[in-house]
Amino acid sequence: MIIERLSREHRNIEMLLAVLEHELEIFDRGDRPDYEVVRGIISYFELYPEVYHHPQEDLVFAKLRIRDPAAAAKVGNLALEHQKGAERLRRVVQAVDSVLADREILRQNVGHIVRDFIEYERRHIMMEDRDFFPAALKALEPQDWTEIASALTSHEDPLFSEAAEETFDALRARILQLEQEAEAERH
Ligand SMILES: [Fe+2]
Repeated sequence: MIIERLSREHRNIEMLLAVLEHELEIFDRGDRPDYEVVRGIISYFELYPEVYHHPQEDLVFAKLRIRDPAAAAKVGNLALEHQKGAERLRRVVQAVDSVLADREILRQNVGHIVRDFIEYERRHIMMEDRDFFPAALKALEPQDWTEIASALTSHEDPLFSEAAEETFDALRARILQLEQEAEAERH
């Protein structure tokens, strides 16, 4: 079921946001976060929402706009929100790169940029869980789901397959493992 999968993906995203937040706390108190973990999370967010998660949501949202325009209007401009999230992520990339390259950047600014990204993503996910998914479940017809599913499986992009899901699962597992190792070393 598509909405179930999208919800599951939201929980996965939240897990990574929590790890990023934890590394940020370490940075905030003046210690060195595990940059392998931070980089891993950035890579995940650079790829996963763009090529996998958002395209699925876009298909569902397009149907919602047809079936229940008022509900779709309440959700708002999904594409724009996704775009803004990507912009915030780019600022995170720049800030982290600056730190790693020892370029002049205030620690405070780095903290602010990363926190801004985390909070924006959380709010966005919360809105989708609260407004978008229930509205879609209510308004879409069985044939809509069938069409969405077939659009997804007929996608020529190899990233859009079951294999893609496995790749992202593996990437996430690797990040969580690195985080566990970093934590073990810290204590
Ligand atoms: Fe989403």
